[in-house]
Amino acid sequence: MPLAKRKIKEIAGHMGKKNKTDLGLVYKDATFSRKYREAQKIDPFHLYLDKPNMHKMLPNLKGKSVLCLGCGGGAECAYIKRRGASRVIGIDLSEAMIEHARSTYKGIDFMVMSLDDIQIKNEKFDVVYADMSVHYASSIEKLMKRVSSLLKRKGLFIFSMTHPLYDVLVREPPMGNKNGQHSKLFGYVNKNGKYTIYGDYFSSRKMESFWFDEGSKVRFNYWPLGRTFSSAKQAGLALDTLLEPKLPKNASISNKNAYERYRKIPRVIIFRFVKS
Ligand SMILES: C[S@@+](CC[C@H](N)C(=O)[O-])C[C@H]1O[C@@H](n2cnc3c(N)ncnc32)[C@H](O)[C@@H]1O
Repeated sequence: MPLAKRKIKEIAGHMGKKNKTDLGLVYKDATFSRKYREAQKIDPFHLYLDKPNMHKMLPNLKGKSVLCLGCGGGAECAYIKRRGASRVIGIDLSEAMIEHARSTYKGIDFMVMSLDDIQIKNEKFDVVYADMSVHYASSIEKLMKRVSSLLKRKGLFIFSMTHPLYDVLVREPPMGNKNGQHSKLFGYVNKNGKYTIYGDYFSSRKMESFWFDEGSKVRFNYWPLGRTFSSAKQAGLALDTLLEPKLPKNASISNKNAYERYRKIPRVIIFRFVKS
């Protein structure tokens, strides 16, 4: 969805205190789920930054098995199938998403299942693929371990998530808290002896974002980069490639502000880890 329709704010509480498995619950709403799928088809973020770069990370898929986490309406699974994968499974928390996926794409196993409790037995995959979904897992450490256990040796875990700098740096006006503060930036200002620090890179926390004209509150995790790396390493996954996609110069976006922003501020980060 267009960024102008999003407002992001940090919400209280740090990770790890409670088992929060409900971050992605908003996607269970059939209307939200449909709006998301429709918006995705025209959103420059998906068209120019996320999807093409995620696709570049895929290896030759001929005869390979792929598990898609948080697969949404199934379009990415279908793309993976078209690229030659012989076995594709898509899991998602939202029944509405899975119903859509099942009725739209054939030859793929779609299952309603949480990232926090992946119930797949006696099967290992060449690739685990998660397009903008890992930040809904309650624990990145637990997810990394589970993904590692599902990968074949030399298997790949490819995923995209909001760039951590974007979460700490960008506050789209009129973001505002009850004191009327807008557009906090990441950094510090020393003005006439008054020293003010904005933001906090190191603290993992939950974020809230209001999509579709504030109608729907989406909640997700923010983790600093080091936490993503160390959780992968502990799970036996080694970094193979990291991408910070920049909007192509010739991208056709009517919103000039979004164009400039995507050319200068990282919106998404993409990782490819390999199981050692
Ligand atoms: C931003 S959407 C991305 C959808 C899809 N990967 C794509 O790129 O089109 C995030 C997806 O993650 C799913 N999701 C959120 N929390 C989840 C959880 N705990 N377990 C499984 N899926 C979850 C949502 O239902 C939603 O479909």
